[in-house]
Amino acid sequence: MDISVIGAGYVGLTTGISFAEFGNKVKFIDIDENKINKIKHGIAPIYEEGLQELIKKNFDRINATTNYENLDSIVFICVGTPSLPTGLINLQYVKQAVENVAKNLDDGLIIIKSTVFPGTTEKILLPIVRKYSDKISIAMNPEFLREGMALHDFMNPDRIIIGVIDERGEKILKKLYTPIKAPIMVTNPTTAEMIKYASNSFLATKISFANEIGNLAKILGIDVYDVMKGVSMDHRISPYFLNAGAGFGGSCFPKDLRAIASGAKKLGYDMKLINAVLEINDEQPLRLIKLLEKYMSIEGKEIAVLGLAFKANTDDIRESRSIPVIKELIKKGANVRAYDPMAMENMKKIFDIKYCNSVEEALMNADACIIMTDWKEFEDIDFRNMKNKIVIEGRKILKNREGIIYEGICW
Ligand code: UDX
Repeated sequence: MDISVIGAGYVGLTTGISFAEFGNKVKFIDIDENKINKIKHGIAPIYEEGLQELIKKNFDRINATTNYENLDSIVFICVGTPSLPTGLINLQYVKQAVENVAKNLDDGLIIIKSTVFPGTTEKILLPIVRKYSDKISIAMNPEFLREGMALHDFMNPDRIIIGVIDERGEKILKKLYTPIKAPIMVTNPTTAEMIKYASNSFLATKISFANEIGNLAKILGIDVYDVMKGVSMDHRISPYFLNAGAGFGGSCFPKDLRAIASGAKKLGYDMKLINAVLEINDEQPLRLIKLLEKYMSIEGKEIAVLGLAFKANTDDIRESRSIPVIKELIKKGANVRAYDPMAMENMKKIFDIKYCNSVEEALMNADACIIMTDWKEFEDIDFRNMKNKIVIEGRKILKNREGIIYEGICW
């Protein structure tokens, strides 16, 4: 089938390239000319494992443009829904994309893949479509893609959720997803939207749960990873997403939990648990500073921060837990030097601190170091050249703790 994808970010590109891999013709539409030119020349505009290979392999089925003429009759909306200061999502990009599509499409199916608050597709986006056409159908098909693993997650989902208003939407989406062997759940758009928010909320809750238990474990002098090893042997709990540490970052969990809690509040419901998950997450990184202050006053000290990305294997620093740590260190008068294998260029837009080209350079004559991202290269670090060998760990990655003064945030 011929598909148009509005928004060539990591969700749009992953979605479009995967459908091209299944034999469909795919056209990407984005306002960013630079991105469009790269795709037209077969170059992946972002890093996602396997993406560049699939763009090359399916190049003859891929097209890219900045305009909405000649849309295909199946259109995925994959534009961003960033947070507003209130925590609610900014719907302007999705609404604009849906309006542009509805204006240029006589008949077809618009599929919302952007994460939107439950009720948005049916109550806000469908009325926009109906202003221009009584024929166009709409559906909601949430994504469950992890950044850096997006193609893997698209090809190997635990489930496919399709929220539809008619048979046509169900038929088209089932046909598109035929190559993927995974259970398909058919429901209405609002339920599909809620499944997305509830899934991310639960995953983030597991992390804050592990961190809360971990904070008590630290006081008791035990390792929360041992605790969670025993807890997760219960098949109802599973070992996943119980890794305690500096908390969750990224462009999804914080945004989605703020959105669902703020949206619920607007509807008169106070989501106490979700708010507590966010509160624990906000406090978690600052516990690292308190651990450091057990050993030194921070004023005027040389502190190395190892890891800036919100997780390993990405250059993305959005809501990274290293941001509040660096902010607090600067506030307390530290001289901060940072190293990250991929994310330093992005962090330079936020902090004017010293950026080092290696772990060794960051640690040279440092008074202390804080490890904030679980990069594999941090498994084995030589601390020899530090002035004071104080190491505080926000992610459990270090294999060798010999000869240093060491504290783990929850272990
Ligand atoms: C997440 C969801 O996993 C994905 O399904 C959804 O579609 C988008 O949001 P992502 O944000 O890309 O994906 O990364 P993820 O691997 O989930 O990690 C999110 C954050 O949680 C990272 O900062 C990570 O360090 C942290 N984390 C994750 C923990 O602190 N503990 C864990 O056990 C797992």
